[in-house]
Amino acid sequence: MSRSGDVTQPEPIKATTSGTVPASLADVARDGSEAPKQMGAPIFEARDVNVHYGDKLAVRDVRLAMGEHEITALIGPSGCGKSTFLRCLNRMNDLIPSAKVDGEVIYHGQDLYASEVDPVQVRKHVGMVFQKPNPFPKSIYDNIAFGPRVVGMKGNMDDVVESALRRAALWDEVKDRLKTNAFGMSGGQQQRLCIARALATSPDVLLMDEPCSALDPISTARIEDLMLELKKDYSIVIVTHNMQQAARVSDRTAFFTVDLADEGHRIGHVVEFDQTDTIFSNPSDSRTEDYVTGKFG
Ligand SMILES: Nc1ncnc2c1ncn2[C@@H]1O[C@H](COP(=O)(O)OP(=O)(O)OP(=O)(O)O)[C@@H](O)[C@H]1O
Ligand SMILES: [Mg+2]
Repeated sequence: MSRSGDVTQPEPIKATTSGTVPASLADVARDGSEAPKQMGAPIFEARDVNVHYGDKLAVRDVRLAMGEHEITALIGPSGCGKSTFLRCLNRMNDLIPSAKVDGEVIYHGQDLYASEVDPVQVRKHVGMVFQKPNPFPKSIYDNIAFGPRVVGMKGNMDDVVESALRRAALWDEVKDRLKTNAFGMSGGQQQRLCIARALATSPDVLLMDEPCSALDPISTARIEDLMLELKKDYSIVIVTHNMQQAARVSDRTAFFTVDLADEGHRIGHVVEFDQTDTIFSNPSDSRTEDYVTGKFG
């Protein structure tokens, strides 16, 4: 899949003063204890990430390395902090006034939370797709052209629109109706449009928060096929409640759970992180086993 049609390569994110090079994986993988096998360069390393909403700790001590050109699945019961952690990877939590993120999220050797990093730049590199397809009330064409225009691209967007729609496996279905309203598409098509929209600013990572939970099985299968195609060019982190989906598409899986804090509120954390087949067939923690076999959650 070619990305040569990309016209809007984002500016590199400004380097941090620390200029951190991704460290050995030895200290970040498998719940912090040992390196997972055969991971290439990590696209992200979360180091001791804690997230508070107001004065309440919601997610604690997340240490994960996510592989480049891999699909990493985040699974676990409701409220364990999957969405909260996912939003740390493109600074979307900045948009929630009460949220406070501590720790480091290293992306291409740079801490995304370093003071000089511009969150808008981060979101150009790290795109996001949400649970419910959320196209703008605009034409299919303008949905795709919106992001590149926001980041300053001028003039004809035909090539950008076609390239993004092709990469999202939607071009053939919509090429004759580009000027029609996106709300006239099916739910599955709308979700692929949202994926195309996220790709239009040439990110290298896609974050997907339960991208198929509002879709029928056929649309879900199309998105899963698309994810497997996209990982050749992108790195993907997906939150899913669908165990089969995690098993089908992901290379590695992190299992989160929640514990009750002394003060009575619930705090999410990672129990186990490993290759997906290990998590599903031979997990090392009984809580993971209970969850993936449906005994809990
Ligand atoms: N905007 C917010 N303000 C305050 N608390 C929040 C906010 N968003 C999430 N939380 C809290 O943080 C914790 C983790 O929530 P989060 O939505 O990340 O969980 P999740 O694993 O994605 O759950 P689900 O599977 O239901 O989507 C929960 O206790 C939740 O109530
Ligand atoms: Mg969630």
